[in-house]
Amino acid sequence: MKGHWLLVLSVVLLIYAVHGCPHKCLCYTTSKTADCKNRGFTEIPAHLPPEIQILQLQNNRIWRINQNSFTGTPLLKILDLSNNSLSSLAPGAFQKLRYLQVLNLTRNLIHYIENKTFSFLPHLKELDLSSNSIIRLPESFGNSTGNITLLSVKHNKLQKMERVLLESLPNLKVVLFKDNPWQCNCNVFGLKLWLESFLYRGGISDGIICSTPGIRKGKDLLKVPYELFGACPLRTAHVHLASIHHHSFEHRSSPKHAHHSEHGEYGRSNCEPKPKPRPVSLRHAIATVVITGVICGIVCLMMLAAAVYGCAYAAITAKYHREHLAPVKQHGTPEEKEPFDGSLA
Ligand SMILES: *[C@@H]1O[C@H](CO)[C@@H](O)[C@H](O)[C@H]1NC(C)=O
Ligand SMILES: *[C@@H]1O[C@H](CO)[C@@H](O)[C@H](O)[C@H]1NC(C)=O
Ligand SMILES: *[C@@H]1O[C@H](CO)[C@@H](O)[C@H](O)[C@H]1NC(C)=O
Ligand SMILES: *[C@@H]1O[C@H](CO)[C@@H](O)[C@H](O)[C@H]1NC(C)=O
Ligand SMILES: *[C@@H]1O[C@H](CO)[C@@H](O)[C@H](O)[C@H]1NC(C)=O
Repeated sequence: MKGHWLLVLSVVLLIYAVHGCPHKCLCYTTSKTADCKNRGFTEIPAHLPPEIQILQLQNNRIWRINQNSFTGTPLLKILDLSNNSLSSLAPGAFQKLRYLQVLNLTRNLIHYIENKTFSFLPHLKELDLSSNSIIRLPESFGNSTGNITLLSVKHNKLQKMERVLLESLPNLKVVLFKDNPWQCNCNVFGLKLWLESFLYRGGISDGIICSTPGIRKGKDLLKVPYELFGACPLRTAHVHLASIHHHSFEHRSSPKHAHHSEHGEYGRSNCEPKPKPRPVSLRHAIATVVITGVICGIVCLMMLAAAVYGCAYAAITAKYHREHLAPVKQHGTPEEKEPFDGSLA
């Protein structure tokens, strides 16, 4: 019975293969489109017409992509795999798709992306990874996919994202970040700086809403003040030390937005931003006031002591003169009243 069905199936597949369109799909030669959506596929259908440029596979149950799944369709420009059951993507999954421009992977179960999954896609413009369970994107993610203009990672499990990753996508125009458990500590400081400059350059984004720590839950990352990132290590330790010693002159030449971050203590192992760091300049001012106050106080005390000593000396001298010199004069000419100066001579 089973064998009978298999035979029928293979015959049907063979017929469709000859016709150049898989069973259950609809192929349109003029628009170079294969419509295979809502068909219950669990794998990429074989025997697709090699000339197609648009492949619609949304709303199926495709759970894996082989290295050679797309070898037969090298001219694909738009690949829609949204609403399927993909949980991981092999490194070479899309490698054959040199002309791919739009890749839609929204509504899958992807939790991990390999370093090179999206490499070698030089014409990729739109990449939709929204509504998955991605916890991390590799740093080399954008390597050789520099033409991406739209990236959506909405509704995933991202807590942070490397700044280098975004910097490797220089043509990005739209980036969607919402609905991720963003961790607004030092991990996202680079992302904050990148996002500010991206928006300044006219980029479009739906923003980053913090999820943790508790006190910043629901807050817009762009509105979290720089001072709270004062404790974050920005560069290598010696630069930080130099920046502290030289009032961070070097840091002023780095991105504009960073200049508040130069205040505070670097090289802390604790990655949590300090709750209320006090800027170095303010602390210096306070120290100066305190030291000046102490010095003034000491000088005043010394002057007071000198004055007291002087007065006491004068009083004692006067008393001495009165008690010891006056009687001598009384013996001489008691009526004569000699001037005080004369008595000293
Ligand atoms: C996703 O695909 C399933 C079939 O696999 C379908 O029943 C469901 O309606 C689709 N969901 C959306 C939002 O299109
Ligand atoms: C991915 O790249 C990172 C560095 O960018 C490297 O440390 C890691 O080992 C790579 N992972 C794999 C599986 O190649
Ligand atoms: C971007 O696309 C152009 C053609 O449209 C291509 O020549 C170029 O190599 C691509 N850039 C990158 C970084 O892949
Ligand atoms: C991906 O597909 C979904 C529907 O399944 C659509 O809403 C979304 O706009 C598509 N993304 C892109 C980048 O075209
Ligand atoms: C990008 O690719 C080039 C060559 O393939 C490599 O030298 C470079 O290290 C890669 N960059 C990252 C960040 O992986």
